[in-house]
Amino acid sequence: MATTDDPVRPVPHDAFPVRNPIQALLRDHDMVRKLADKYQNTQSAEVKKQAATQLIQAIHTHSRLEEGVFYPGVRRVDPNLIARYEEDHLAVDDLLATLHGMPMIDDRAEPMMRELIAAVLSHIRQEEEQLFPELKQAALDLTTIGLEMQAFEANLVHLQAQLSDQGARR
Ligand SMILES: [Fe+2]
Ligand SMILES: [Fe+2]
Repeated sequence: MATTDDPVRPVPHDAFPVRNPIQALLRDHDMVRKLADKYQNTQSAEVKKQAATQLIQAIHTHSRLEEGVFYPGVRRVDPNLIARYEEDHLAVDDLLATLHGMPMIDDRAEPMMRELIAAVLSHIRQEEEQLFPELKQAALDLTTIGLEMQAFEANLVHLQAQLSDQGARR
């Protein structure tokens, strides 16, 4: 059964940063970096396999949040701000789709994980160094986007809880 210290599962937040939703994205980015470090630095095949699964899940969840809510919200304000980030996401989504269900012992998995990690780390760095400061500078009110993200995340937590209940009952 999942616990609240599961590093991947989004936990319900009493105080989702509705007025500053970028904080929620930064929190995800930190988690992705931590799991990428774990994957790259462990000597244990078992830990590596587990880190790969968690990392893929963390990237997937974060991408859904950005693609489903954050990017469309920003696009309403200024489509030019995020076009290149959306392109990055297409490439990462392709890699995720190929890795999905691939056994981590598969010879192709390791180079593909390395490619995924390099692409994602570079992308999140650009979001943090360029996109987020640009949004701050534009002094946009992100509260509407924040409320949508809060609802999206709550829904995701609910869905995952349902899935894990179903899994536990099998
Ligand atoms: Fe992104
Ligand atoms: Fe991001």
